[in-house]
Amino acid sequence: MKRIMTLFLAIILSLGLAACSNRAELKETETFLNLESGGTESETHTMNNELNTVNGTLVVYFSATGTTKPLAEYAADFLNADLYEIVPEDPYTEEDLAYDTDGRADREQNDASARPAVSGGVDNIDRYDTILLGYPIWHGQAPRIISTFLETYDFSGKKILPFCTSHSSGIGSSDVNLHDLAKNAEWFEGRRFAAGTPREDIKAWLDEMEITADKTVGDISFDLESRTVTLNSGHEMPINGLGTYSLHGDECINSVKSALQSGVRLIDTASAYGNEEEVGQAIREAIDEGIVKREEIFVTTKIYPGSEMANPEESIQACLDRLDIGYVDMMLLHHPDVNDVKAYKAMEKFVEDGKIRSIGLSNWYVEELIEFLSQVDTIPALIQNEIHPYYQENDVIPFIQGKGIVVQGWYPLGGRGHTAELLNDPVISEIAGVHGVSSAQVILRWNLQKGVVVIPGSSNPEHIKENTELYHFSLTEEEMYRISALDRGEKHDWY
Ligand SMILES: Cc1cc2nc3c(=O)[nH]c(=O)nc-3n(C[C@H](O)[C@H](O)[C@H](O)COP(=O)(O)O)c2cc1C
Repeated sequence: MKRIMTLFLAIILSLGLAACSNRAELKETETFLNLESGGTESETHTMNNELNTVNGTLVVYFSATGTTKPLAEYAADFLNADLYEIVPEDPYTEEDLAYDTDGRADREQNDASARPAVSGGVDNIDRYDTILLGYPIWHGQAPRIISTFLETYDFSGKKILPFCTSHSSGIGSSDVNLHDLAKNAEWFEGRRFAAGTPREDIKAWLDEMEITADKTVGDISFDLESRTVTLNSGHEMPINGLGTYSLHGDECINSVKSALQSGVRLIDTASAYGNEEEVGQAIREAIDEGIVKREEIFVTTKIYPGSEMANPEESIQACLDRLDIGYVDMMLLHHPDVNDVKAYKAMEKFVEDGKIRSIGLSNWYVEELIEFLSQVDTIPALIQNEIHPYYQENDVIPFIQGKGIVVQGWYPLGGRGHTAELLNDPVISEIAGVHGVSSAQVILRWNLQKGVVVIPGSSNPEHIKENTELYHFSLTEEEMYRISALDRGEKHDWY
């Protein structure tokens, strides 16, 4: 269900994204153009020490029937702000909302002291100095749950910018009547919007109110000369690597060593793959044999939902112990989980201790990401999702990249049982023929030109080497377009 909701939201967002040239789109276009124009040209990166800190704007909203919600999402997207939905502990039914029936909503609005309970809360309101507050008009006023929200926190010194949606009423006195509930806040004049207000109008309102994004989105375009990208954590990461899912024992050790010998500097593993010991052994042997130095390589691992995320300190330490390579360059949460925020916070502590360099997420889509970002301090450096020509995530990728988060694709070649079909796809084969490269190289290069890091898995030394040879050719805009047209929204794994 969550997945369906995510897809639905992603489609809505993508329609919105398509409707105007927003930051996320520009970001992707920039990435695309940077690669297109240069081929092997070096890009410069803007380092910004504030990249990894949370910004000071929070978009809060209550939306009983979903009208206010998209407007809040547009605002959060434009401002790169966190988003928080006021969810009633006791959800409103259709009957509750039927007005002029003396139903629950009517009674609450008639009772100035009504304070419907809110489920959950804002993690750390002190991080925000600007709050956008969205609500529907109920009998000319803000719903009483907005009063509950305002009385829960100390808004002293914070700017509050109210906005509402309604059937036909204006904002009236609904915004001014809230002032007493947060007396020491600096209240801005509120604005009413009609249902279905387009993104551009929200942007125009924010511009008019001089509310601007206070978080700089970092440059995550790829440097094709060094074959790296600079993460928002400030660390450099190679843009092509080796995935080790399904590799075990000697086959795993040999594959990792072969990759390191072929110049691969990014190795991806996970606790759930059950091969961290072999990956670690291969790396230690490669270091001992003078093939690489520890600081030249980038190793990613992941902790899994369930007991691992329920006991994150233990699980993180266990990954470090199994790998036994000093520190881990990147640790990801493998999937969303009830304990994901707790596990992420544990990873943050390991970053402080220098045992992990960067942290991120895997299998996180738009809705999960919006929800997650409002609860954590460190913006993920990377999100790793299933991406291949038959499952392109063209809606999700710009959304993630627009937040300065690097996207990495797993199953770049389609995944087990699907690789042959993908590699023999007539369009991809034809493009491969034109450039004198393999279909795999075309697909990997297509990813790089979209600003997506690739980690193809292989145990075949020739394939491992071939998968690194991605920098002597580039795909034309038309070829990129032809591959984009192959999207079927066809997931090759369950998450
Ligand atoms: C109990 C109740 C009272 C409402 N009173 C008004 C009103 O006074 N004026 C108005 O124009 N719309 C009124 N509406 C309609 C909502 O303001 C409007 O549909 C709003 O956009 C819903 O936003 P939401 O979907 O985010 O909850 C009322 C709706 C409800 C449920």
